[in-house]
Amino acid sequence: MSDEPEALRVILSRRSVPLVRPDPLPRTTVERLLRAAVAAPSHHLTRPWRFVVMAGDARRALGDAHARAVARVRPDATPQALAKERSRPERAPVVVACIATPAADDPVARREDRDAVVCAVENLLLAAHALGVGAMWRTGAMADEPEVRDHLGLGPRDEVVAFVYLGLPADAPPRAVPPASLEGVVEWRGAPTA
Ligand SMILES: Cc1cc2nc3c(=O)[nH]c(=O)nc-3n(C[C@H](O)[C@H](O)[C@H](O)COP(=O)(O)O)c2cc1C
Repeated sequence: MSDEPEALRVILSRRSVPLVRPDPLPRTTVERLLRAAVAAPSHHLTRPWRFVVMAGDARRALGDAHARAVARVRPDATPQALAKERSRPERAPVVVACIATPAADDPVARREDRDAVVCAVENLLLAAHALGVGAMWRTGAMADEPEVRDHLGLGPRDEVVAFVYLGLPADAPPRAVPPASLEGVVEWRGAPTA
């Protein structure tokens, strides 16, 4: 991998970082990551993304909204279980909600708008990795909970594409992830390329 250009090395060595330190991240660092996010492609330049950056108490407020959703869905949830749900966003000093705001009712444009935000999220993850910031894309049920959607101020067509958890990597061994391979996922058609 050392022969690869820097951008490829960043792409090929990126890993999700679930365990990060509680130390705050400078706002300028988060801004650099967001600038990479908004450099993503979008068809017709719709740039259909929006980001809510939550740090400090704002993570607890997000956790409260999530815990209200869990209490509604699971009325028998114990106070301990709810406390655990409430604390989820506090696993990292910064949580960025990456929101798709589709510009049109047209189903193709809607799909493309969401896809553009997925690209923005990947840019964000790659920029984090390039700057030595640990990042983890987490979505799960929380992304669709009405309480969480309200809390984030989403409109009826808006979608949470990702909650990206950010922080300086903890002193922990990297997650073991089987290497990705081209085996069985590529079909070559036509004449061989040079
Ligand atoms: C759409 C999407 C949603 C994800 N949601 C979660 C999640 O809710 N919780 C989680 O632990 N990881 C989540 N991940 C991260 C994956 O678990 C992770 O990318 C995968 O294990 C591969 O590891 P890597 O990112 O290090 O390559 C999500 C990834 C994607 C693309």
